[in-house]
Amino acid sequence: TPSPIIAPSILAADFARLADAVHAIEGAADWVHVDVMDNHFVPNLTIGLPVVQSLRKATSIPFDVHLMITDPERWAPGYAEAGAHNVTFHAEATDDPVALAKTLRAAGAKAGLAIDRDTAVEPYLDLLPHVDTLLIMTIKAGFGGQKFLPEMLDKVREVRRRIDADSLEVRLEVDGGIAADTIERAAEAGADAFVAGTAVYGAHDPAEAIGKLRALVEG
Ligand code: DX5
Ligand code: ZN
Repeated sequence: TPSPIIAPSILAADFARLADAVHAIEGAADWVHVDVMDNHFVPNLTIGLPVVQSLRKATSIPFDVHLMITDPERWAPGYAEAGAHNVTFHAEATDDPVALAKTLRAAGAKAGLAIDRDTAVEPYLDLLPHVDTLLIMTIKAGFGGQKFLPEMLDKVREVRRRIDADSLEVRLEVDGGIAADTIERAAEAGADAFVAGTAVYGAHDPAEAIGKLRALVEG
């Protein structure tokens, strides 16, 4: 099994100092998680393509872009072209996830499919060979700082079973309420990529907070 990925979410950082926020976790984090929200797919509004393009020039850490937007066909390729390592769009926002994943891969990015709180994962299991990342929300998408929903781990177990049974190379990512008191349960359920906003940027020393999370999942 591949070693765990820790991806701090800059949603919990100071938006006036995003480059500093990324520099603070370089060397400690594997990816930086960028939450794009459009005030339509979710009620919240965050950052978009121009900010990602500018931030891309400030660091070489891989970007894990999480698109919580409607019409991902229109916008997702731009993030791949901007140099995102992984571009994840929501299952609830598209009728043809396989086609969009193909487009993203052709544009040079890994393709991720996200499953929100109220969506069952079973209908998407057959699509796993077409994506690089499957993101299970462990909250309802839209805001940082929410409480982890342990019942979402049934979905994580379901996806892990299929990944292992078919020997697929798919990252199984969890997002929402991941912290020192929840990350082990997510890992035991089969997750191998962990997004953490508040637990990293709410800490006095973000790099140290990442080290503590990593120690909990690396054993
Ligand atoms: C919420 C975002 C998450 C968020 C997680 O919709 O997708 O990535 O930043 O924040 P925490 O870790 O605080 O729950
Ligand atoms: Zn996210």
